[in-house]
Amino acid sequence: MALDAFIAGMPKCELHLHIEGTLEPELKMLLAERNNVRMPYRTVEEARNAYNFDSLTSFLVGYYESMNVLLTEQDFYDLATAYLTKAASQNVRYAEIFFDPQAHTSRGVPFDIVIRGLRRAIMDGERLHGVRAQLIMCFLRDFSAEYAMATLLESLPYREWIVGVGLDSDERGNPPVKFEKVFARARREGYLLTAHCDIDQPDTHEHIRQCLDVLGVDRIDHGSNALEDEWLTEEIGRRGLGFTVCPVSNGFVTSDMKAAEIRRMLDLGLKVTINSDDPAYFLAYVTENLQAVQRKLDLTRDEVLRFERNAFEIAWLPRAAKDAYLAELDEYAATAAATAATPADAAD
Ligand code: HPA
Ligand code: ZN
Repeated sequence: MALDAFIAGMPKCELHLHIEGTLEPELKMLLAERNNVRMPYRTVEEARNAYNFDSLTSFLVGYYESMNVLLTEQDFYDLATAYLTKAASQNVRYAEIFFDPQAHTSRGVPFDIVIRGLRRAIMDGERLHGVRAQLIMCFLRDFSAEYAMATLLESLPYREWIVGVGLDSDERGNPPVKFEKVFARARREGYLLTAHCDIDQPDTHEHIRQCLDVLGVDRIDHGSNALEDEWLTEEIGRRGLGFTVCPVSNGFVTSDMKAAEIRRMLDLGLKVTINSDDPAYFLAYVTENLQAVQRKLDLTRDEVLRFERNAFEIAWLPRAAKDAYLAELDEYAATAAATAATPADAAD
């Protein structure tokens, strides 16, 4: 049975969301015009049809090209405000938002322009919509370790505005160990750590091992290939690390949304969560991701609730804040069960 309305109304937590990946064609064209940036398309429709990818590498080409329209503090404010407004409409209560400063500083846009715009949007988002959010700064792994370290140092004046660091962009030939010193320094500065372990990448098991044993991550982004290795699966379970899985994204960059792997994570009691990654490109925000997985696996309400319980549980928040969100989720579940239309619905 489809649980679309239940999922839509459920209080949600988004933990794998690239703010640059929320740049919808409408806003992209508006910013292109405002900033006099030439794009290889003239209409929103053409911009939408320009997306053409079937792998992480081909996705990243359009993702970075689109960012050329982001130039001013106001642009970053408008980008994050659009996302937070959309998130509020899906009852996202809390979001941890990735940003890619090097995708902007490498084009000559200063770090402080980027972070000030995002920060102001987050403050207003909480005030206007009641959506809480924190920033995670990602290093682009296809740039050098030295550039990542310089970016880390550049972030330190804004340390209080950033909860952790991550690692994204093209994984091929860019193993986690390349960033060992950067992550060690980030840890010393008090940042929490996560890293992308993208789907079906060359050397994926060795890369996941390095995330555990070299970087010492607190969480794994994507990471479903860990299930193919017994030691990795057990070690992640032992450490209680969460996975931020993005099913619709998986279906775009590989041929499969990896539903069987999500089912297995649930069965093993691993802390799997469902997220949207780059929703403007993959055409699905967090509600649609949850709905897609629920349908594919015919999940029950309790199983759907587990994704959100896991997410609030592994969120980088103080215990009291997590407990408040978990209580909200319990209340939603209890009310939904009490008002279910038929006994069959209630049992679902
Ligand atoms: N993987 C790697 N880099 C990215 C992604 C992703 O899922 N999204 C945006 N940049
Ligand atoms: Zn991602």
